Amino acid sequence: MIKPFAKPIYVTKPFLPPLEEFCRGLQEIWDNRWLTNNGPVLQRFNDTLGTYFNTDNLCLFNNGTLALQIALQGMGITGEVITTPYTFVATTHALYWNKIRPVFVDIEPDYYTLDPEKVEEAITPWTTAILAVHVYGNPCMLDELADIARRHGLKLLYDAAHAFGTQVNGKSIAHYGDLSMFSFHSTKLFHSLEGGMLIFQDGGLKSTFDYLKNFGYKSEVEVVMPGTNAKMNEMQALMGLHVLEHLDEILEKRRRITDLYRTRLKEIPGVCLAAAPRAGVAYNNAYLPVEIDERAFGMSRDAVYEKLKAWNIFTRRYFYPLICDFSCYRSISVNGDLAVARRAADRILTLPIYDSLELSEVETICEVISSLQKGTAVLPEIVGAGRPLGAS
Ligand SMILES: Cc1ncc(COP(=O)(O)O)c(C=O)c1O
Repeated sequence: MIKPFAKPIYVTKPFLPPLEEFCRGLQEIWDNRWLTNNGPVLQRFNDTLGTYFNTDNLCLFNNGTLALQIALQGMGITGEVITTPYTFVATTHALYWNKIRPVFVDIEPDYYTLDPEKVEEAITPWTTAILAVHVYGNPCMLDELADIARRHGLKLLYDAAHAFGTQVNGKSIAHYGDLSMFSFHSTKLFHSLEGGMLIFQDGGLKSTFDYLKNFGYKSEVEVVMPGTNAKMNEMQALMGLHVLEHLDEILEKRRRITDLYRTRLKEIPGVCLAAAPRAGVAYNNAYLPVEIDERAFGMSRDAVYEKLKAWNIFTRRYFYPLICDFSCYRSISVNGDLAVARRAADRILTLPIYDSLELSEVETICEVISSLQKGTAVLPEIVGAGRPLGAS
């Protein structure tokens, strides 16, 4: 019998820098007594990211959701925006908060990103932009989407919440499209506790984004637009700076974990691995999605999800249900039957992956999955409960 893990293995676990390193930074914040409002640590984090991404067109926020809302508002996006139903719900919420109508179209089956053909079919006179998601950190079909956007005069925005660290042809994913939003939520491989970032092509947008995230203030006595409060604070910036120092090591560990999963899982009937990254893509290994083919596996995805809990393994069904099936979005019309997205949502299971996950733990997770498939698993008592549902 395979013994359950002594402690729960969740789908992710945040990286934390060594405490002594972080405490040295805290001392600086204590000495400064400057906690938020564009403090010195935030400025350093901004400059460090500017160097990392080789751009001045960068703006930091207290989370990715508000970053995306502000991006849409600052760019003056209105009417209809073509987007994916296969994402975390914040992508759609950001449209809704701007009174923009989301138009859901299907995804392609290899990387689960927007299907460019479906995007083109959905364009109407009211379409102003495409909001695509580099879901799981996989790049969208960048050239095809850029071509459609150019031919139809649409803005191209990327929700790159999952994609920090992904590169395409030696260039960061941040530099494709008109704008990219990154989430620095602590479930992400790069994080600042909570946080968000916009990187954009048009430098003229920077001041607008800066005003919008700080109540619209231009100076002490001038409010030039009805902004909100979306500022990143000093603690967040400090965490971000320290995590960034360890980024290469985080990416390397995830790469090794993915390699092992792929080797072990490809032997198991009914476990379908996502396609290997396209040529020219340096993937960040943000997630480990697999599809469970019920007939070949002998058990449904939901049964696998439930049974793994008995071994203290808590996977997630990202992204199920589809956004258009949530009660608040059911009235939105969808384009086509979304067959690919529905199939993915019904079959997908995202397995645990984080830098501190031991390779021996990956071996055990794969053994449990294999024994469930073979029907040899001896089910232990349920040993724990999942975490409450949160932002991915
Ligand atoms: C695809 C996607 N978009 C947007 C967000 C929102 O980012 P945040 O949690 O930083 O607000 C998340 C996740 O957290 C996400 O996964």
